[in-house]
Amino acid sequence: PVLVLDFGSQVTQLIARRVREIGVYCEIVPFNKAEAALAEKPQAIILSGGPMSVHADGSPRAPESVFTAGVPVLGICYGEMTMVTQLGGRVEGGHAREFGRADIVIGKQSPLLAGLGDPSGREPVWMSHGDKIVSIPPAFEVVATSENSPYAVIADEARKFYGVQFHPEVAHTPRGIEILRNFVVGIAGIKPDWNMRAFKEQAIARIRAQVGKGKVICGLSGGVDSSVAAVLIHEAIGDQLTCIYVDTGLMRAGESEQVVSLFRGHYNIPLLHADASDMFLEQLHGVSDPEKKRKIIGKGFIDVFDYEAGKVGGAEFLAQGTLYPDVIESTSATGGPSATIKSHHNVGGLPAHMKMKLVEPLRELFKDEVRALGRELGLPEAFVGRHPFPGPGLAIRIPGEITREKLEILRKADTIYLEEIRAAGLYDEIWQAFAVLLPVKTVGVMGDDRTYDYVCALRAVTSSDGMTADFYPFGHDFLARVSTRIVNEVKGINRVCYDITSKPPGTIEWE
Ligand code: XMP
Repeated sequence: PVLVLDFGSQVTQLIARRVREIGVYCEIVPFNKAEAALAEKPQAIILSGGPMSVHADGSPRAPESVFTAGVPVLGICYGEMTMVTQLGGRVEGGHAREFGRADIVIGKQSPLLAGLGDPSGREPVWMSHGDKIVSIPPAFEVVATSENSPYAVIADEARKFYGVQFHPEVAHTPRGIEILRNFVVGIAGIKPDWNMRAFKEQAIARIRAQVGKGKVICGLSGGVDSSVAAVLIHEAIGDQLTCIYVDTGLMRAGESEQVVSLFRGHYNIPLLHADASDMFLEQLHGVSDPEKKRKIIGKGFIDVFDYEAGKVGGAEFLAQGTLYPDVIESTSATGGPSATIKSHHNVGGLPAHMKMKLVEPLRELFKDEVRALGRELGLPEAFVGRHPFPGPGLAIRIPGEITREKLEILRKADTIYLEEIRAAGLYDEIWQAFAVLLPVKTVGVMGDDRTYDYVCALRAVTSSDGMTADFYPFGHDFLARVSTRIVNEVKGINRVCYDITSKPPGTIEWE
């Protein structure tokens, strides 16, 4: 594999994603916790960018073994600076960091830039200025320059060490993936044969080796990650797997039925369907504080899950759909070790007596790779491409108190909205779209009657990770169609609004 040493850049994950897109397996480790990964002899090493200056006190360095491993090394931005410093060149402390579009001019042929550059040798890139190289290490030469960087690309072709002062991994460097391909396939000679079919076979073998004859339980949420994990594990160990679906009664229209029929019916996976909707609704009765709702639902979920798991008898393993972004240890901006591992699973915080070993077959994958694996496993497109849906479900889309009646009204409005989004071919462009039922009644007129009914808010956002988001710019005719349908078809709603807040300052959900 290719090993990326992370120096804390915001875009380190993109390096791994691009290398995997090329068909080569790639892992990220913090620069200061790289010993084990280096001992496993990676075939190529990439040093990521980072927010610091190499002149800052205690600024990070690559382990010396990176440069004695005998494998190609590519330093990106900070990675280039530390490589230059460590190999005997000189770097001057920089002014403020600055990123921007620039052209490099290729002055010398190098396998790193094979096939790049227009006839005059120009190639657009996304530059990063901070520290400045003033002399390059012995045996290095300049391959490309830019207006502000006389050392935009440097190389020691004999040792296969390369440094670039821009970010080949970002979309703003249009042919950056070609540079990465030149490095991992051309220079390091790695065969690009990593794909989801290969991953699936390896993952199945690993699950079998870990689990043996043991029993595994897996909580299904109806979402992509747990669904893909469950189908993969079932392919590996068959009916040693039991799935548990905790039905909170807070799901969207038809969702529970779909989960049950897909897993029990289509895949024939043993599935315990715990219909706990009465319990959840009772516990939520009269509660309107969003955090209280979340706590009640979270705790109820664990209680039901625990009870159902007890029915399986003797299960030692718990499957979780943990993904790679949750696993990567973040490298903090100061370069100090940071032990925070984000945990963001739906079945977190199990009671202490449930001492189970974790099976996490997706922990090496990014979200889009999980989708590709789902397709490889034959999961229907409608499942694989689903928008994210929060654990507390519709409870956080009904500000204020939750009642059966309100849930029914919201389900109908939400269904119409999503039907229209799909019919307009917009579903895949949107990160999340949903209706919110507001605890406000307003006056309307229908026929000759005055109405006094709820307001429904529609939300749709684009996003790449849910951390920031923009509202989706629907055309007015689309909004008018949805509004007319909801008011005409859903008894209980007489007014529709569209939420035009981005995140930040808003959040995606209303609670
Ligand atoms: P916000 O509303 O914070 O949402 O902008 C960001 C993403 O997280 C989802 N979300 C949740 N997911 N439990 C979950 O499992 C929750 O309590 C929760 N709250 C928000 C939200 O749907 C969006 O994808």
